[in-house]
Amino acid sequence: MRTRLCELLEIEHPIIQGGMAWVSTAELVAAVSNAGGLGIIGAGHMPTDILREEIRRTKELTNKPFGVNLMLLTPHINELIEVTLEERVPVITTGAGNPGSFIGRFKEIGTKVIPVIPSVALALRMEKAGVDAVIAEGTESGGHVGELTTMALVPQVVDAVNIPVIAAGGIADGRGIAASLALGASGVQIGTRFVCATECTVHENYKQKVLAAKDRDTTVTGRTTGHPARVIKNKLSREFDRMEKDGASVEELEQFGLGKLRLAAKDGDMEQGSVMAGQIAGLVKDIKPAAEIIHEMVKEAKDVIGKLQEVVLQSNPV
Ligand SMILES: Cc1cc2nc3c(=O)[nH]c(=O)nc-3n(C[C@H](O)[C@H](O)[C@H](O)COP(=O)(O)O)c2cc1C
Repeated sequence: MRTRLCELLEIEHPIIQGGMAWVSTAELVAAVSNAGGLGIIGAGHMPTDILREEIRRTKELTNKPFGVNLMLLTPHINELIEVTLEERVPVITTGAGNPGSFIGRFKEIGTKVIPVIPSVALALRMEKAGVDAVIAEGTESGGHVGELTTMALVPQVVDAVNIPVIAAGGIADGRGIAASLALGASGVQIGTRFVCATECTVHENYKQKVLAAKDRDTTVTGRTTGHPARVIKNKLSREFDRMEKDGASVEELEQFGLGKLRLAAKDGDMEQGSVMAGQIAGLVKDIKPAAEIIHEMVKEAKDVIGKLQEVVLQSNPV
């Protein structure tokens, strides 16, 4: 299943494992890249020496392309950018901000720059700034989210830009991939499904929480802060809701949220921690190696597309 995105990133399958702070570390990233997708390290608020270590460990585990996701709101973002430049990471994706000011420096050394965007307007602005592709991420996604759904956002972005569009949010199997390609995307970015990959080093409690989640078990917290995030409902999300309803200030809410993803991902605290996951968590039923996840998804996508072709062949001409 080769698309324009595969040519651009020199990968075999048009599947990107979304960068996930505290969750996507070298083991998962290398497993995805070795299986023909693109693994991405979630830099989040990582100290610079840890990011460098993760990049070097990934290089030891794979000789295939991989990426780093940079959260542009991170206070020491400039230092993290320098590390990714020095280490000549093949691909960077960016979240929570505008990578405009440093696109040129990455492109000079051949690094592909791919921002996550929640709207057509930002996609157009990013295309103008010279990015290589955009990730159109719907509100179904785990982690920080915009307002539009994947189904509504992707085709509108596809129509607006000429660069490859990657669909993200609510995709966890071959049906989701086939649907994304039907909407005009050149590939997909997947987060929640890969939390339950064998190689993912997140706390076992986190994996079990995703496996147990049903379709309506996630909620969005922090809409009033301007940085809303989709998480599995728990004590923390209820407390966050209560604080927002009681009119807590943005500073209070942000202070309250500090360190909560780490608490869930590393310490396994499923009540006080922030258990980021997407609405598609209800479809995730097992833990298995990333290569199996990818190969099954690709096979299923091909089968689905084949069946759709049969539907067309069997229907009366219009
Ligand atoms: C646990 C978790 C952490 C995430 N952390 C980040 C992050 O640090 N930066 C980012 O740009 N996106 C982050 N995301 C979003 C993913 O990269 C991806 O776009 C999203 O998960 C796709 O939607 P899905 O969860 O429905 O597959 C995170 C998602 C999850 C589930």
